[in-house]
Amino acid sequence: KRPPASVLFIFGGSGDLNYRKLTPALYNLFLDDYMPEKFEIAGIGRSAYTIDAYHEHLKDGITKFSRRKGEENGHWDNFSKNVTYLQMDAEDQTAYSVITDLVKAKEAEWGVHPNVIFYLAVAPQLVPAIATKLGSLNLCSDKACTRIVIEKPFGHDLQSAHDLNTLLGRMFSEEQIYRIDHYLGKETVQNIIALRFANALFEPVWNRNFIDHIQITASETVGLEGRGGYYENSGALRDMVQNHILQILCMVAMEAPVSFDANEIRNKKVDVLNAIRPFAKEKVHENAVRGQYSKGWREGKPVPGYREEKGVNPESATDTYAAVKFFIDNWRWQGVPIYVRTGKHLHQKATNITLQFRPAPHFAFPAESGETWRPNRLTISIQPEMDIRLRFQAKRPGQSMMLEPVEMVFNFDAQFGDQHAPEAYETLLLDVMEGDATLFMRADQVEAAWKVVMPILETWENRPPVDFPNYAPDSWGPEEADAMIARDNHSWINLP
Ligand code: BG6
Repeated sequence: KRPPASVLFIFGGSGDLNYRKLTPALYNLFLDDYMPEKFEIAGIGRSAYTIDAYHEHLKDGITKFSRRKGEENGHWDNFSKNVTYLQMDAEDQTAYSVITDLVKAKEAEWGVHPNVIFYLAVAPQLVPAIATKLGSLNLCSDKACTRIVIEKPFGHDLQSAHDLNTLLGRMFSEEQIYRIDHYLGKETVQNIIALRFANALFEPVWNRNFIDHIQITASETVGLEGRGGYYENSGALRDMVQNHILQILCMVAMEAPVSFDANEIRNKKVDVLNAIRPFAKEKVHENAVRGQYSKGWREGKPVPGYREEKGVNPESATDTYAAVKFFIDNWRWQGVPIYVRTGKHLHQKATNITLQFRPAPHFAFPAESGETWRPNRLTISIQPEMDIRLRFQAKRPGQSMMLEPVEMVFNFDAQFGDQHAPEAYETLLLDVMEGDATLFMRADQVEAAWKVVMPILETWENRPPVDFPNYAPDSWGPEEADAMIARDNHSWINLP
């Protein structure tokens, strides 16, 4: 089933996100027959483009970034017929009449009132002005058909996120607002729900009685990729933990939903955020570690230090690495530490979640077999590896009872390799057109996530780091992070 007729306006139409992610995603939806029968996509930007030049620009993005190229059979021509470009100054209210005119023209042509979707792929400081101007169009009072999509960062802290929610709430009702966290669109992230709640096997052990601790890693090998201006005012905690990592944590820790209703799932997630133990400021240094990369080497090539990057203050105190130990104060998770970490220029690109189980209550095996014993682990690899592995003990063949840890592996590619796994943005854009907000952040979710990180951010801001830079590129981050987890007799799990 295809979504209803839709007109999509992409603010930031000539920008990077549209070029790399949005148009390729819409094009893939088109190739897979998921676009509405009737659709129009209007890129909005300040730059001057002829329509041909705009199409060329987008086509170039598809050649470079699309999951499928689909050049054959004139697909691109059929798609791009429905793509237009509006050069406009988004700060000028009078310019917005082109939007209403385009919607009216399409309505007359198609004979149906379409969905109208405003996608704000612009710098965060432009969002309030654009949303306010859109809000004065009559179109926006149509709660059923008009939607606004907001990219991260959603606020810079709790107060600014709250102010932005209040501002948007004046013009749009909550069900019209789609706050994107692209991690929620990833197939392997959505699969956490299937693993946990479509099986009877895991849920009974998914709690403090069986789980010793949880680790979530989102390590990157890239640096700033030219985004110094943005990142310098953000840092790893804001850029990755407040949003993506806390959202993954919610999926791992939430209670079972009663239905797939958008609000039901989001209520269960927000319960997790509200149950995360708030840090007392004087405890922050015991439970959170920040890092910044120095200059160094990767694969024989020099890597400039963070403070040498373009757009970065040479004495910058911005974190490019963050590790935090959380506790969730509820029945299921009381006393189970949850260690999360993320950083730029680390040794490996890997996003994964590991649940480490407690040892068996009694060990009847000969003492020497204990030497090779390892705790049970369930590891969910989100990317680039996409698999789920369960580690358990097996008897090593031979005349004595020796144990050896082995793994049962479910690999997405081996199982489903011949089927198209949609990119996160495909899933999310389709959901917006269908009006399904399950995978989007509700106002209270965003604010609850900010509340979790605020004490850390405030403590860090008030106490400038004394040891920056404190980790080398291609390493696993600062030693202090190893020390933090070692104090609990654990260590970070680095998958091979
Ligand atoms: C973005 C961050 O939200 O997520 C980037 O701003 C980060 O700094 C990116 O690199 C990671 O996304 P992915 O999908 O490549 O893991």
